[in-house]
Amino acid sequence: MSVSYLVTIASILHLLSYAHCGFISYEDARKAVIQAEDLLITGGRIHLNAKEDRANDIFMRYKLDELGAGFYDSDVNTAGLHFFKGKKLVEQSQVLKFLKRMPKGAILHLHNTASVSSEWVVRNISYMPGLLRCTNKDGSSIMSFRRAPLEHGCASQYVRVSDERARSINPAAYDRNFEKLINLYTPVPEYDYPTIKHVWRKFQNMFSAINDVLRYLPAFRAYSWRMLEEMYEDNVMYAEVRMDFKELYDYSGRTFPPERTVREILAIVESFRRQYPSFLGIKVIFSTHRDVERTRVFENFEKFKNLHTDHPEFIVGFDLVGQEDRGKPLHNFISELANLPISAKYFFHAGETNWYGASTDFNLLDALLLNTTRIGHGYALLKHPVLWNAVKKRDVAIEVSPISNQVLHLVADLRNHPGSFYMSQNLPMVICNDDPGFWGTKGLSYDFYYAIMSLAPNHVGLKTLKSLVWNSIRYSVLDKGERRTAFENLERAWDQFISDVLQGKVF
Ligand SMILES: *[C@@H]1O[C@H](CO)[C@@H](O)[C@H](O)[C@H]1NC(C)=O
Ligand SMILES: *[C@@H]1O[C@H](CO)[C@@H](O)[C@H](O)[C@H]1NC(C)=O
Ligand SMILES: [Zn+2]
Repeated sequence: MSVSYLVTIASILHLLSYAHCGFISYEDARKAVIQAEDLLITGGRIHLNAKEDRANDIFMRYKLDELGAGFYDSDVNTAGLHFFKGKKLVEQSQVLKFLKRMPKGAILHLHNTASVSSEWVVRNISYMPGLLRCTNKDGSSIMSFRRAPLEHGCASQYVRVSDERARSINPAAYDRNFEKLINLYTPVPEYDYPTIKHVWRKFQNMFSAINDVLRYLPAFRAYSWRMLEEMYEDNVMYAEVRMDFKELYDYSGRTFPPERTVREILAIVESFRRQYPSFLGIKVIFSTHRDVERTRVFENFEKFKNLHTDHPEFIVGFDLVGQEDRGKPLHNFISELANLPISAKYFFHAGETNWYGASTDFNLLDALLLNTTRIGHGYALLKHPVLWNAVKKRDVAIEVSPISNQVLHLVADLRNHPGSFYMSQNLPMVICNDDPGFWGTKGLSYDFYYAIMSLAPNHVGLKTLKSLVWNSIRYSVLDKGERRTAFENLERAWDQFISDVLQGKVF
């Protein structure tokens, strides 16, 4: 904990009682306390130049307008509504417009197979020749470009998607139904997903529906390219993407080892960078599902170590994914996970739970004991004073994904999200999008919308936004040279953005 933090809190506590003793006027004490809290907040101490100040004034007009409307009528209070309920309003929002144009730095928590908008998947992948669909024993759709009954769990015949579409009375309606297989959106989430169980079931089904599709080489290539494109279009310059390394396959049924996946993705990023030189690229966090047998987890950990040895700058770390409350806690894997190559890092999902003191809640403790570099979600962290103090002292960033936490049933109203607590005292945090394709957002702007509208206090604007953007590079694992380039590019893009705002090119 920094000295200034202690000093500020201590001197302000002092003032709170002074007001009662009459040494300082009540109003002065009150003002001093408010000011002190404003300084503690994420971005509270950074300085804006004159142009930024003017851009902030413009931004704040829109922000306060929208909050004001919501204050008088909770029906239009996007800050407090479920994203699916508020989606139409958010999409018309001037605040969102501003955030889309704002350079946002890096995405540090994103799963590749849910990274691209479902609308694009329908338009592009679902029209690729050879796509098949079957249903498993639970009646959920599984799609693939190959017939591999055991692994897919198909309980029905395979049908060609192109045949189904051609036979349907209304191909547009067919496409809309297809999109529902990979998008959680519903106008009535409270009805379709009454509990966390319902929404996670559908969520996991969506991964199962699309997983094998994206391992088909042509689909993998198109999808990965589109992932970069959707970041770039949203003014994101870099990402650390969580990926699994299940084998790719081609038209002839040939399969390829993980090494091939690495080569493919490296080639795609390189060619993307040739076209868009201001995009810095990606690094990869090897992820494996936590809800499988221990031996599978260890096999994948070994696979990770081999890939990391060959590509230490690219395959940078390891994580366990899947619903924490249903999967195995980190504590089950300690002996093996203690064995991490010195150059590799952990980026554990931890504390994505509402259970206080349950085994999954302790993932936060184990993640920190294992020296995690960042914490995925860290939703439950505020309940653990020793742990959040450690996070602050060690500068371990919390990857806050507001929409994900709401859609997946941890919190109904994002103004109650613990990200507010983290922000209120500038705990290390970054804003992330987790699985944007699965809830109909693109890039990071939507999550930034909730960060500034729901997590931040009313009167807070550009300082906090800028600080969150800078954090995304600061808490990345870019090396020294890459980091310097990233900050230089960011400064340039930021200045341009501010000028655009002032010249009326944004609104
Ligand atoms: C699918 O996406 C890829 C990659 O963006 C693109 O090259 C291709 O033209 C797209 N195909 C269709 C049918 O849109
Ligand atoms: C974590 O870091 C501490 C201090 O740097 C070190 O003593 C400890 O061995 C590390 N633990 C693991 C599991 O890497
Ligand atoms: Zn995640």
